[in-house]
Amino acid sequence: MAEKTDTVQQIKDRLSIVDVVSQYVKLERAGSALRARCPFHSERTPSFNVSPERNTFHCFGCGVGGDMFTFVMLSEGIDFKGALKVLAEKAGVELVYSQKDTGEEAARMRLFELLEATTVFYMGQLSPAAKTYLESRGITQQTIQDFRLGEATDAWSLCVDYLKSKKFTEQEMVAAGVGRKNEHGGLSDKFRNRIIFPIGDSVGRIVGFSGRIFGPLASPDAPKYLNSPETDVYHKSRLLYGYDKAKQAMRTLNCAILVEGQMDLVASHQAGWSNTVAVSGTAFTVEHTQIIKRMTDNLILALDADAAGIKAAARAARVALQAGLNVKVVQLPEGKDPADLILQEGSEAWKLAIKDAKDIIVFLLDILESRSKDTDGFRRSVELSVLPFLNDVSSPIAREQYTTLIARRLNVSEHAIIETLARIPKEQTIAPKNTQTVPIAEVAQSRSTHSDRVRTAFAILLWQQSATHPQLDHAVYEASLREALDDTLDELHTMSDSDKEKLRFEAERIYGVSNVLSAEVESLLHNLKKDRVTKKLHTMSEMLKNAEAISDESQIQTLMDQIALLTSEIAYLHIMR
Ligand code: UTP
Ligand code: MN
Repeated sequence: MAEKTDTVQQIKDRLSIVDVVSQYVKLERAGSALRARCPFHSERTPSFNVSPERNTFHCFGCGVGGDMFTFVMLSEGIDFKGALKVLAEKAGVELVYSQKDTGEEAARMRLFELLEATTVFYMGQLSPAAKTYLESRGITQQTIQDFRLGEATDAWSLCVDYLKSKKFTEQEMVAAGVGRKNEHGGLSDKFRNRIIFPIGDSVGRIVGFSGRIFGPLASPDAPKYLNSPETDVYHKSRLLYGYDKAKQAMRTLNCAILVEGQMDLVASHQAGWSNTVAVSGTAFTVEHTQIIKRMTDNLILALDADAAGIKAAARAARVALQAGLNVKVVQLPEGKDPADLILQEGSEAWKLAIKDAKDIIVFLLDILESRSKDTDGFRRSVELSVLPFLNDVSSPIAREQYTTLIARRLNVSEHAIIETLARIPKEQTIAPKNTQTVPIAEVAQSRSTHSDRVRTAFAILLWQQSATHPQLDHAVYEASLREALDDTLDELHTMSDSDKEKLRFEAERIYGVSNVLSAEVESLLHNLKKDRVTKKLHTMSEMLKNAEAISDESQIQTLMDQIALLTSEIAYLHIMR
């Protein structure tokens, strides 16, 4: 039986990345690569590149890249399995799973079936009282259907009994998080006395539930919301409630709205904002930002206006800024959440609140200004609570605009802001930053840093090794590079495949269209050798200091000899330039 990796290869053999990508964007030839305006972020000049040779893509603007599977995952907002299905169909390859996969896959499929059956069961249980309650909160019949809302009654085991009748095992019910072992060794329903919000994955398969307390028999100390536990298919740090229904609108409106609660999400969609998603009983994570970034770079936070909500907004904003999202904040009337606002003041009020969303930095400045006693206090609190955010902003242009803005608000010079910023210790980043690494042009020159040169030299090696018609004898080049790098080459090789592919694209972009490669390589190797000798010289000098401190005469002599040798080597390298 074929392994899945075989299937992937088979698909790649039959399809070209060009065929796949062309369905989404118009590609134009540029040297050995094809180019287009990036479908994953908005831009005027094309920085999205496709390599037919390596069957990969990379965008220099937003940093995304990968193979045809990644491309489909990102474009459709689906997971790998989903992309596999789409591409297998396109390639005419039948999906066959290995024995192990069949077992795991079958178990997952059973989980999905069980969760689907549970959803249908809860929908059927929705009582007139619960409907009346939802109506009183402004939720229409249509929305109840669209979001498949249901009810768990006071009964102890109605749901698990139903699932038993559908031939699901107790073990499966526990694994899906809908049943729990009780004190008597039997199985009880996890959700009781609750309105049920089924939660879908990115393609809408139900993976878990959130239940809001409801019903005359509900215990007063029960938590207001109860969520599914983590299961094989429910990972709350990676799930955004409503994403399956929101993803297309997120792309077309080029913005996502983040709310806190299930009710807020449903109400916002009903009010016409189908680009709304919600975190479900958890903090906003880096993984959440990545899901959003598949569709848009713009995020509007609409979290509660109480103190806890503002803190949550600030935390979410930092995560989002570090991930490179642009962040705005909706200002809600004190004590109201989006669901309250929509119910009490109508959809129009919600629309205005969204339209009036403030840029996160402006939002923070406004809050602090209104809370500060005097100018000095304002300045101090900005330094403490706003400037750290500025360090998170990954776009240099945006950062500069913010600097101007803050300087103006504080009535100080931009220079003062920049200086203060530089003194703030960079906090541990929460998200892997889209670090603006080295445009590799001109790094062969000695005024670039050593690590820039290493990166460029390695990029050229990777690119040439993968080329069908290499411009260099890459085996010879590799040997020289290995020598120049003192065997740290193997360490470089441990970087991830996607980082390597990014480097190939960088090298190709710069050297693929010119004929300076061999001159460049020579200069790089030369400078790397100089780096190596200089570093050795530095180490030796340190050792010499130590030897002198303890008057170790023989050691001093050995070191002096070596230093003399290295110095002449450096002189030689300089002359050779
Ligand atoms: P809120 O307490 O603000 O509730 O919690 P809400 O969304 O306004 O609910 P309604 O309007 O009274 O129906 C916000 C969100 O925090 C999570 C839920 O996702 C909830 O929607 N939460 C809250 C929990 O996970 N557990 C809880 O016990 C409470
Ligand atoms: Mn509410």
